[in-house]
Formats: sequence, structure tokens, C-alpha cells
Amino acid sequence: MKVTVVGAGAVGASCAEYIAIKDFASEVVLLDIKEGYAEGKAMDLMQTASLNGFDTKITGVTNDYSKTADSNICVITSGIPRKPGMTREELIGINAGIVKSVSASLIEHSPNTIIIVVSNPMDTMTYLVHKSTNLPKNRIIGMGGALDSARFKYRLAEALGAPISDVDGMVIGGHSDKGMVPLTSHATRNSIRVSEFLSEERLEQVAADTKVGGATLTKLLGTSAWYAPGAAVSGLVQAIACDQKKIFPCSTFLDGEYGLSDICIGVPVVLGKDGIEKIVDIPLSEAEKDHMKASAEGVRKTNGLLEA
Ligand code: 2OP
Repeated sequence: MKVTVVGAGAVGASCAEYIAIKDFASEVVLLDIKEGYAEGKAMDLMQTASLNGFDTKITGVTNDYSKTADSNICVITSGIPRKPGMTREELIGINAGIVKSVSASLIEHSPNTIIIVVSNPMDTMTYLVHKSTNLPKNRIIGMGGALDSARFKYRLAEALGAPISDVDGMVIGGHSDKGMVPLTSHATRNSIRVSEFLSEERLEQVAADTKVGGATLTKLLGTSAWYAPGAAVSGLVQAIACDQKKIFPCSTFLDGEYGLSDICIGVPVVLGKDGIEKIVDIPLSEAEKDHMKASAEGVRKTNGLLEA
């Protein structure tokens, strides 16, 4: 199993590290455009192999896509991250060109690859890969919901005073501060609906804190987060690589599902060896349906900023 991660910045390197530690891939190629940067990160990570107990081979390359050839899965993290006060949508001007050229280079050397898009604004970048390549839609996946759901579970556990292992919850919709849809009606604490423990007001606060989870960290860190994004995308890679048939909220191209078409947005999907193997239709409350509709309008507005 060969995985390529494009972008050796904090998110890409964290993703490569988590994939290596989970030890399900034979090789991870870490590629960056900055001379020697990916090579340095890969070497540093390889020097943790005996300490963290993995055999995965991590190789760093500078802008040489021939070294990514025949990758089963390619993760695109390249592009600029947010600065405090910025929205993810403001990154489109620079990141669209990067994502378009990176995806073309990856597919040239790995025509059968599955692509996972992390670069922001992620739903629009996922849509861009769909529109600018001829990869089938099951092999183009946007990572946002898995990260947002992890933040949702963190906030739920905090509100419940419960261990995170007891909490489950999912965030669908656009990966944007205003567009996320935390499914509070579905969230549980060990199979018990969280509404049995938390008031509606407290749940609304949990949802609000979840939606700005990325911005909260960008304010604290001065740049976008990287540990949870890297861990979230490594989970998607593992589900595909190990054919786990796990359900994640992922940005995918919709063709009528959830009443939406010609858009990439976060919905529950089954991930396995063929990438997105099924889009899972779940019951939404009227409020959740309204939020999803508004979220889609926001994503379409950002899609409209893509140059034709
Ligand atoms: C985040 O929410 C980088 O969009 C990513 O942290």
C-alpha cells in the first residue's frame, strides 16, 4: 500500500506520521516544493521508527512526482493555511491553482489513485478536483467532517463531563465556520441521546463552539491547526487502505442525495477499498435540513469564485 502526501507542512507531516505509526502502509511519500523540506521531515520521521515501532518507509521528495508513481491513495494538503481572523474561503485565490496542478500531477503518475483533499476551502477544492480531472466521483474525497466531528465529540465530552470514548457525534455540511451542521439530534453518550443529559441551550453552545473549532485554534496558534487535521485524514486513509467499510462524514460529489446536486459537501459515507462506496442517507430534523440547505448555498457561493 503506497500513500503520497503532498505538502510537508504541519498537517501533511502529521498525517504522514500518524499513517506510519498505524503501520498499515508499506510506503509514504512526502512531497513538497520547498527544496529539501520534505526530505528533512521524512528523515526526522524515519528516525522515530525504532522509537515508535513502525516499519512504514517514509520518503521525502522535492517536487518530483515520478516518485509518487502508482500511489494507491494521495492526500493533498498543499496550499496556504489560514491566519487569525481569516476564513477558509479567503484562501481560494492561491490554493485553487495549487490544488488543480497538484491533482493533475498526481493522476499523471497514479491514474488509479484515490485522492483525499484537505486544502481549504476544502469543499470547493474537492469540487475543483472533480471538475478538473476525470477521476470517478467515488475516488475524490474531501476531509473536513471527520475533523469537525472530532471537535464536536471533544466539546460534547467537555459539556457532559464524560470520557471522549463514551461520546459519539457527527458533523455534516460544509467545512466552514458558518456551514457546519453538528448533528446534535443524533449525538450519544454510550448509546443514550445526549439530550437526556444536556439542555437545548447547552447543546446549542456545543454546536457553536464546534463550528468555530478551527478558528479558535488559529487564533491561539497564529496558524491553522495540524494535529487533529492530520489524525483525521490518516483515519480516512486507513479506512480505505484496510477496506474497513467505516462511516465518516466526507465531502463528496452529490447527484441528488440530500436534495443536492453538482456540489461537494460533507455527508455520511462508507469508506472502503474503492473510496466512497456508499452515500448514507440519514434522517435529519427540520432544523438540520434547513442548516444543510444554507450550508450548500455557502459552498456554492465559494464554488462560484473558481475561475471558469
Ligand atoms: C481546520 O479546521 C485546517 O480546515 C482545517 O483546522
